Amino acid sequence: MFVNDCLNVNEKGHLTIGGCDTLDLAKEYGTPLYVLDENVIRETCRSYVNSFKKFYDGNGMPLYASKALSCKELCRIAKDENIGLDVVSGGEIYTALQSVFPMEKVHFHGNNKTADEIKFAIESKVGKFVVDNLYELELLDKIAGDMGKKVNISFRIKPGVDAHTHNFIRTGQIDSKFGFALETGEAFEAVKEALKLNNVTLNELHCHIGSQIFDIDPFVTAAEIMMDFIGKIKNELGITISELNLGGGFGIMYTSKDEPVPYENYMEKVSVAVKAKSAEYGLPVPFIYIEPGRSIVGEAGITLYTVGGKKEIPNVRTYVSIDGGMTDNIRYALYQSDYTVLNAGKADKEANETVTIAGKCCESGDLIQEHTKIAEVEVGDTLAVLSTGAYNYSMASNYNRIPRPAMVMVKDGKSRIIIKRESYEDLVKNDI
Ligand code: LLP
Repeated sequence: MFVNDCLNVNEKGHLTIGGCDTLDLAKEYGTPLYVLDENVIRETCRSYVNSFKKFYDGNGMPLYASKALSCKELCRIAKDENIGLDVVSGGEIYTALQSVFPMEKVHFHGNNKTADEIKFAIESKVGKFVVDNLYELELLDKIAGDMGKKVNISFRIKPGVDAHTHNFIRTGQIDSKFGFALETGEAFEAVKEALKLNNVTLNELHCHIGSQIFDIDPFVTAAEIMMDFIGKIKNELGITISELNLGGGFGIMYTSKDEPVPYENYMEKVSVAVKAKSAEYGLPVPFIYIEPGRSIVGEAGITLYTVGGKKEIPNVRTYVSIDGGMTDNIRYALYQSDYTVLNAGKADKEANETVTIAGKCCESGDLIQEHTKIAEVEVGDTLAVLSTGAYNYSMASNYNRIPRPAMVMVKDGKSRIIIKRESYEDLVKNDI
């Protein structure tokens, strides 16, 4: 009935998640409230791990891209499920450390890692630096040398694959701020440069073609292009790159229009391509990393809001105002992202009203969804926005000095707080 497996409707006609009544959750913890279903997160992690076992002799590891949602509990779950982490800032490294994460399984990304972040990452024993450009390569080599360390590196490569997704989240094409281009020879020169340095060891290449992608073909093409490059490095420089990181980007369901493929289909197809290319170049089959973010937490999450007002503008539209908005979910304002919105207390009723869901910020563009169908809304109703587990809390802000909502984890009918609601005191704690 719903796009998300963890959702259901109980005998009262209320929406449930992980066996918990959403109206009870809203009452107990207040709104706006992020809710995550632990079983869905764990099952998704396991399906990725199993896909390596099933199709690639277990010769790989998923890294959870924690930019989708970085918090201590998610790091603990990743650790528990034997997957690594892809981090993009000192803050995400700190979060991993705080959760006692095995830091050798952490890959550090980013197109402008600062010197302080690099030092902190080396001190924290981060397993791999995914180097974005030559300035960073030099800086990293110098800092590692000054600290008497040698670090493992990967290069982020733009494979020139154009994934069909929103412009802001496409990254594989040549016009991208991320990584080294293949077709200009820039990537090959960078490899030669790295081989001259004393404090870095290049043993991996990385690519990421974009996000919210449903087609498997561009991933397969990217894997083949990367293997061709690894073959060229072997043939021309005599060096074997033993690890290949193929990034994340697997699409999820926001509305019934989205049709994600089972995630294991990805490894099934990619492994065939990688093995064939390894044979072609006489290379050992590389260890593979993938970096799913959205697909691990996205569908596991919903956001609950309380309706505070309704404004019917004849012949124009009806606005329904909620107690959150772009501060907890900026994705409609930024990308016009589609979402499914439900009236949580009338989950068994027909969606017969067309409304625009407006946030509470002083900003006309503060909308969660426009012209969406929903069961008739009244002031005081609880609304649920589905598939908000990824890139919602992690992109939240305090615009208008609105505190960030709490986050609750549900599992088998029980709930617990994993991120506390910000207080007004939190909002001024850095003000002098
Ligand atoms: N690896 C790298 C190098 C990435 O840049 C990303 C996402 C991922 C992995 C994870 O991709 P995922 O599996 O989550 O699609 N804020 C945007 C998404 C930005 C994605 C940035 N990079 C959104 O809300 O749609």
